[in-house]
Amino acid sequence: MTDSNKSSHGEWSSRMAFILAATGSAVGLGNIWKFPYITGENGGGAFVIVYLMCVLLIGIPIMIAETMIGRRGKRNPIDTMTVLAKESGADPNWHYLGWLGVIAGFLILSYYSVIAGWGLSYVLNVFTGSFSGADGEKVQTLFNDFMASPLQQLFWHTVFMVVTMGVVARGVTEGLERAVQWLMPALFFLLLILVAYAMSTDSYFKGLNFLFNADFSKITGQSVLTAMGHAFFTLSLGMGAIMVYGAYLPKDISIARTTVIVAGADTLVALLAGIAIFPIVFENNLQPGSGPGLIFQTLPIAFGNMTGGWFFGILFFVLLVFAALSSSISLIEPAVAWLVETRNMTRQRACVWAGAVTWLLGLGTIFSFNIWSEFKIFDRTIFELLDYLTANLMLPIGGFCIAIFAGWVMKQEHCKKELHLTNPQHFEVWRFLVCYVSPAAVFLVFLNVVGVI
Ligand code: TRP
Repeated sequence: MTDSNKSSHGEWSSRMAFILAATGSAVGLGNIWKFPYITGENGGGAFVIVYLMCVLLIGIPIMIAETMIGRRGKRNPIDTMTVLAKESGADPNWHYLGWLGVIAGFLILSYYSVIAGWGLSYVLNVFTGSFSGADGEKVQTLFNDFMASPLQQLFWHTVFMVVTMGVVARGVTEGLERAVQWLMPALFFLLLILVAYAMSTDSYFKGLNFLFNADFSKITGQSVLTAMGHAFFTLSLGMGAIMVYGAYLPKDISIARTTVIVAGADTLVALLAGIAIFPIVFENNLQPGSGPGLIFQTLPIAFGNMTGGWFFGILFFVLLVFAALSSSISLIEPAVAWLVETRNMTRQRACVWAGAVTWLLGLGTIFSFNIWSEFKIFDRTIFELLDYLTANLMLPIGGFCIAIFAGWVMKQEHCKKELHLTNPQHFEVWRFLVCYVSPAAVFLVFLNVVGVI
């Protein structure tokens, strides 16, 4: 552990570098794979509005808080919480928040890597022409066959984990900065192409209508929880990922402004993905609520039938995998940073351990799509349980604690100094949100789900 002003893992070279890395972490499968399918499952427009509200009122204030805590602590999340709790004269048990995050990171990455593996496999599928001229039925059959094969999924999951850990072993600030620089604009561009394809279908407005026409009668307590959980998930909040990235952030950079940029970019990508996907869903008589396979059952139809689809298809899935990679890195970085700083491991060794544990956990997810699909705990498959436990419970709880810590435990003057907002009113607004609005919102959603209100 170092006590200097800089993190021992290196620092971002500029504000842009941090924005790119944080966007790289935020934009991933959550935006392109998860957002469309949970929107489909939860009835569309009203869910989208609840999600947007959660990003604005809960996500952004907590993201500012988490980055700020990270930059002040300059260490892995566990030690950062210990040090800052001490500095604020608070209970040292706050460091359990760091633990919660490290565990959540493992659990999320274990299934995240499986889905990223699906993406890898689809690169090959497009390449070999499996989708050329394909209709909805063919694409669905292909997906179902793939789901039925644990071995194929295992192979791709393994490839993805090895690559992820290889990148993390080299240190996060170097390779990542360079990769994300061209990756994000390219992904954005491809989404625009897909949106253009969606516009060319007759169901374009039907798709838009589904996505933006709010019918609040479709909203239940559970769907509000899902929307809120997703706001945390998509912004990479509540488990220390952004805290670690904040730890590598130079002092003079404005946290609030960068956060708003990152959250804005993240939201835009999710909405574009939705706009691209739902017209294809309706055009081909697919079900919006068909679950985690949604993008794998829709986008190949577009690639199979549009001009240049082979090329764009390959490019799209490659970029999706890269976007997943830049997110995965942030899921495991807190654990690796902790192993390196306090267990005296080399980065390489830490990566082997963390990677092996995650890989093993991933088997549970793979099997929940085939041989263990009937095995349910609390009426959920292992994959569904992991997703629920992390996105809907652990991240909001982590985020709640981060808000309380930043709002009520840390000394105000420290927060002020870290955020150095030029307009003092902005600081008051943030403080109000993080002290009252965000924690209360999380709390109320929880109360509602357990049936108290
Ligand atoms: N935000 C990423 C996505 O949308 C996933 C992710 C990366 C994440 N790091 C995280 C989620 C940390 C929660 C916590 O795909």
